[in-house]
This record gives sequence, structure tokens and C-alpha cells, in this order.
Amino acid sequence: MLNEMRGVLLVAAVSMLLVCHGADGSRSIPVTEDANPKFFVPLNEANSTPRLINQASAPQGSGADVTYFAGHGVATAPDGYYGFIGTMDVYGFTLTQGQESAAAVWISDEGDFSPSNLKTIMIGWEVLPAEYGDSQTHFFTKWTNDGFISTGCLNQKCLGFQPEKGATIAPGAVIDHTSSPKGANKRNLNLKIIKNGTSGDWLVHCGVDRDPELIGRFPRSLFTGGFADRAVGITFGGVVMAPVTKPPPMGSGYIPTTDARSSASISNIQLVDRDGHAWPVKGDLPKFETNRNAYAVSPIVNGTFFYGGYEQPVV
Ligand SMILES: *[C@@H]1O[C@H](CO)[C@@H](O)[C@H](O)[C@H]1NC(C)=O
Ligand SMILES: *[C@@H]1O[C@H](CO)[C@@H](O)[C@H](O)[C@H]1NC(C)=O
Repeated sequence: MLNEMRGVLLVAAVSMLLVCHGADGSRSIPVTEDANPKFFVPLNEANSTPRLINQASAPQGSGADVTYFAGHGVATAPDGYYGFIGTMDVYGFTLTQGQESAAAVWISDEGDFSPSNLKTIMIGWEVLPAEYGDSQTHFFTKWTNDGFISTGCLNQKCLGFQPEKGATIAPGAVIDHTSSPKGANKRNLNLKIIKNGTSGDWLVHCGVDRDPELIGRFPRSLFTGGFADRAVGITFGGVVMAPVTKPPPMGSGYIPTTDARSSASISNIQLVDRDGHAWPVKGDLPKFETNRNAYAVSPIVNGTFFYGGYEQPVV
């Protein structure tokens, strides 16, 4: 139960971010030659940080847990989004019970922004001792059709995600040999989720240090409303949750504003349109940071951004 609530919180944190940053389009469009200019239009960036933190963390749990988020998101394509491609470098650290650190992509439709209307698929890596009983790094995915009120779960704890026969990795699997923040060799989690235009299933592709291959699907029948057909928003970033007194590392633990070369990245970011065409993100997208002194993101340059912070000393 506690872990399900955590799931809600992590999703809700991002949900709030998108709520509080309504589409505006007043900033210039950073890309040039794309078919649909609104595909990449940045949202208007507003500074509502204290409100975001309070809303994301206040209602549930002991009241002492705090969620922090740092990432980029977009929700402006008139036709919606039909998938994404991206690569995360994967890190590991020792967390204690009650701490959580994840890197994720959310594809979502928040409807009218009431909690029960949140529909989302989340995928990435996480360290979460309360769930896995260890402090290893796990590949994970999570879904809901109603803000986790009666549908959805982490990995395969409920019916939902359907693994592909012979898949090389399953949700919940340990990713060993994680990256060293200062080293050249990175462990890369290559991700792709794309809608099958015929069946409507969300097809999940994943590869650790190899090209992503089909590992399973979220059937179209899990979802109602518009999310059965497309996503409204796509968000990339890091999210951590912990008691106020024990903030965990996000990403590699290094904050990009002072140590970009050691911080974690999400790269090769592409967004998929209705026709199944993947468009590389060439310009920046709006960023969301709930506490930018502790956890931050860099701008997106050539489809790559850096994010994270807190734990590691700046060397
Ligand atoms: C996409 O959906 C069609 C129709 O159901 C099916 O024949 C095809 O195998 C699906 N492709 C994948 C990769 O699942
Ligand atoms: C841009 O990103 C792509 C994909 O990640 C990479 O292959 C390419 O080397 C990058 N180009 C530059 C100039 O960094």
C-alpha cells in the first residue's frame, strides 16, 4: 500500500508540474524544419516552485516525505504524441528505506487534471529499497488509467504489462555494472515506446548497452479516453522522494549547473508523431525544477540534457 502511494506521488509530482505550466507558446520555437511546429513548442515557464513541492508531497504518507523533480516536458502537439525514443545513463547508490531515486520518461494524459483522470505509462531505472528489498538499480515500468485509484501498478505486480516471449529484460530486473560518474564507460538504458498504429497497443522496447528491442506491451484495452489513442504530454527527468532530512542523490548525484560532465544524462531524445515518425528534439524544451538549488537540469542541446544533484560533493 505504501509503495502504491509512492507511485502515486511520483506521478503526481510531475502531474502538478504540467498543471502549473499551462500551454502558452509565447517563447520562440527552437526547431526549424519539423512538419508540425507545435510538436516541440515549449510551455511557458513559470516559477511556482514552493507550491509544486507542497502539492506534490503534502497530502499523503507521514507528511514528512518530500518529492523533488528535475526534467523537461512537452505537451503541445495538437495531434498528441505516439511515443518517444531516448537513452539514459544508469547509476547506482546506496539508499536507505524510505528513500527513492528514479530516472524516468512519462507518457501521459492528465485529462481535466483531477487525480483520478491521470493516465500514464512511466519507464526508466530506479533505486527503491522499500519496494525491491535492496539498493540495486532496477529497470522499471509503471502504469495507471485512473491515478492509481483502482488500476495500474509497478512492473508486473498486477495484470497490465504483457511481456514479449524471449524478451532480454523484464520490468523489475536489476541493471548491474552501473556507470561511474567520473568514468568514460557508461551503462546505457536505451528506451523506445511506440504505439502500434493498427492494434493501438503501446509497444515497449528496451536494451541495456544495445539497441532497444521489443520486450512487451501495454495493451490498448488498459486505457480509456484519449490515452487509448495517443499521449498528451511526454516528460523526461529525474525524481526522488525521501524524508526531508535524508534527500537522496538524483541521476549520478552531481548537479549539472556546477558539474555537467559528471552529471547524469538523457540523450538521443526523439518524439514520435501520429504516423510513427520519430523526430529528434533539436532545440530546448521547457524545464521543471522543484528545488533548483539541490536538483537541476541543463538545457537540451542536440537531443541531450543533464540532470540531477544533491549527494555528491563538487570536485
Ligand atoms: C501491430 O498490430 C497488428 C494488428 O493487431 C499486428 O498484426 C502486429 O503484429 C502488431 N505489431 C506488433 C509489433 O505487435
Ligand atoms: C547529436 O546527438 C546524436 C544522438 O545522440 C549523436 O550521435 C551525435 O554525435 C550528436 N552530435 C553532436 C554534434 O554532438
